[in-house]
Amino acid sequence: MLSNIVLGGYIAAALLFVLAIVGLGRQDTARSGNAYGILGMSLAVIATAVHTFTSEWNTLGFVLLVVAVVIAFTVGLTYSSRVAMTGLPGLVALFNAFGGQASAAVGINSALGVDTYESFNEQLVHGVTVWAAVVIGSLTFAGSLIAFGKLGGRVTSRPVVLKARWLVMGLLGTGLVGSLVWYMLAPSIWPLVIAHLLGYVFGVLMVLAIGGADMPVVVSFLNSFSGWAGALSGFAIGSDLLVVAGTIVGMSGIILSIVMARGMNRSIRNVLLGGFGTADSTGSAVAVLDADGNPRQAVSVDASDVAAWLLEADSVIIAPGYGMAVAQAQHPVAELTRRLIEQGKTVRFAIHPVAGRLPGHMNVLLAEARVPYDIVLEMDEINADFPSTDVVLVIGANDTVNPAAMEPGSPISGMPVLHVWEGHRVVVFKRSMAAGYSGVENPLFFHENTAMLFGDAKASAETLVTAVGTAKV
Ligand code: TAP
Repeated sequence: MLSNIVLGGYIAAALLFVLAIVGLGRQDTARSGNAYGILGMSLAVIATAVHTFTSEWNTLGFVLLVVAVVIAFTVGLTYSSRVAMTGLPGLVALFNAFGGQASAAVGINSALGVDTYESFNEQLVHGVTVWAAVVIGSLTFAGSLIAFGKLGGRVTSRPVVLKARWLVMGLLGTGLVGSLVWYMLAPSIWPLVIAHLLGYVFGVLMVLAIGGADMPVVVSFLNSFSGWAGALSGFAIGSDLLVVAGTIVGMSGIILSIVMARGMNRSIRNVLLGGFGTADSTGSAVAVLDADGNPRQAVSVDASDVAAWLLEADSVIIAPGYGMAVAQAQHPVAELTRRLIEQGKTVRFAIHPVAGRLPGHMNVLLAEARVPYDIVLEMDEINADFPSTDVVLVIGANDTVNPAAMEPGSPISGMPVLHVWEGHRVVVFKRSMAAGYSGVENPLFFHENTAMLFGDAKASAETLVTAVGTAKV
């Protein structure tokens, strides 16, 4: 009877995890997705505890479990509630680190519990699973701590590449394979301890070699690794729930990494091998010529010109980027949007998948400023609408609106971008003519229909709010 209740708890938890992933896929259902996740994880912990302690009561084990849950709950709740939006990738890196280490520990523990195997096949499957959980878990732990350090500036954000990198990696790989062979021939804790330590070294060297700016993709990749380590350890101890939860995390991490890498027109391999933003990452600007064949100069305007254009316009698209986050301009931008909508204009936001520095960066800022979800559109949903739009406001975005991506020969060639230049008028809010994250100059600034509104994006948006609000409609 009790075992059926426990089984029901496991199945309900697995379903709640699936509902959590589905809910987190959309901004308006993200809160309920989070709630499903919390409920699923609580149910999983309770069902596991009931399963463990009803089959064999162990007072010390129960006390340790309660102490661990209380400590984890307090630390998790305190840290998560204090972390700033910009610190989220670091928080996820820490979650990944502990998830990976926990999986490695579960793997080793499951190996300690086995005295003999019934067949060689059983030994092979269990041995390889345990070894893989230990290696991937320890690699994830060490790599995630380095990523956390790089994100917070505690570890240098430069790629640190050993001179004999491939020789060292080759030796590490050989050592890892050696530990597996040793473990299969003579199962004991020692080859697993060696594999664990080599996994640490591998994780440190792998992430140290990648530049700090690529850490969001690395964190997403390590998130996937922590999921696979969990699934493997679940397989090793025969926990279906851990296999399901680990696989969901593993797959979603892989998909997110691919989406991010595609949005930057990079391969996962290219990110993991490191070096972006160093040697050949600066491209030359594609010159924009005027009617006489001379290079065009960028045109600077002030907020009153932009306000006049906005008041004449019927349709407006706002393309935000990293600069909006730096300036914390989302509140005046939201207020500007509200005032324009009140005046009968169609205003929508165009969100590039890698605008900003972390997945969903713009969506979260706009949600915080209470911009309605239904006017926040993804790149593919809105890209065809620029030619029929009167005014496009580019707020602190650069690479994600760079037409150079449409031409061959630049480091961002092939990166999908928002076609903002197709709007009737384009206004770029930024402080200078500086390039964006990729270091590639942006010919958009020199287009005939583009005007530059120089200054901090928040101050510019605040001035516009006043100008638009006080102007006669
Ligand atoms: P970026 O290309 O980084 O450009 C941001 C622009 O904002 C800069 O040109 C800067 O120009 C301007 N800016 C900065 N502070 C400002 C302020 N206070 N007021 C006004 N403007 C300000 O931005 P993007 O278009 O969002 O592109 C994101 C880039 O990050 C892409 O290359 C992407 O591949 C990369 N990336 C994204 C992610 C994710 S997951 N989102 C992860 C890793 C890397 P000024 O200095 O002249 O003001």
